[in-house]
Amino acid sequence: MQRPVFAANWKMHNGPSDARAFLRSFLTHNARRTDRQVIFFPPAISVTTVREMIRERTDILLGVQNIHWEDKGAFTGELSAGMARDAGATVALVGHSERRHVFGERDEETGKKVKAAVRAGLSPMLCVGETLAEREQGRTEEVVLRQLRAGTAEIEPSQMVGMLVAYEPVWAIGTGKTATPGDASVIHAVIRAELAGMVGERAKGIPICYGGSVNRGTAASLLEAGDVDGLLVGGASLDSEGWSSIVRT
Ligand code: PGA
Repeated sequence: MQRPVFAANWKMHNGPSDARAFLRSFLTHNARRTDRQVIFFPPAISVTTVREMIRERTDILLGVQNIHWEDKGAFTGELSAGMARDAGATVALVGHSERRHVFGERDEETGKKVKAAVRAGLSPMLCVGETLAEREQGRTEEVVLRQLRAGTAEIEPSQMVGMLVAYEPVWAIGTGKTATPGDASVIHAVIRAELAGMVGERAKGIPICYGGSVNRGTAASLLEAGDVDGLLVGGASLDSEGWSSIVRT
């Protein structure tokens, strides 16, 4: 397995002052490590601050939580992939469940955003996951595969190497309910097989992270599950000490 990914999705938390305080503590307690990949997804307003704080820490990556698919234009409130790259981000979340379910983002928009990310030199982290109703209807695989195909529809297979995928069941996000390692492993294997159909052997190099109420108590067992290459963590990444202990899993 490649080195595990530990991604912190801060959502709408940690403005510049809080981000600075968080990182001052986190960086003091977490020396550089080459055996894991840490990524921070701060809110856009804090990207520059985080960039400055991690300037010496080339082992840590910086990402944005959302991008628009156009390079520029009259899109008030939006952020282009090129701007994110210019600000020092190298990764972009695409299709996070809150984007899909709170802001109505559609499958085809995720495809355009993934393409925009690749065009700007960002690694997209495409998020997929079923709702509780879809799971109860036995539609988990169908939904996840539909989202995966739509999210990668506008890029070439060769451009998929360098992207990341996050499986985040919607019913597990921010709810305290985590998929069991076994549940996660089953869906991760489905995703891996689909990726292999697209890019062959190189699918092994596309990290598939699990997300949804991960905490320091569940991180280790999830990471040990088959085809789980990393974790995308929301709530439990907001406390520097708790996040440090997850990163040390
Ligand atoms: P959570 O969020 O860990 O708070 O469930 C995960 C995410 O939304 O990426």
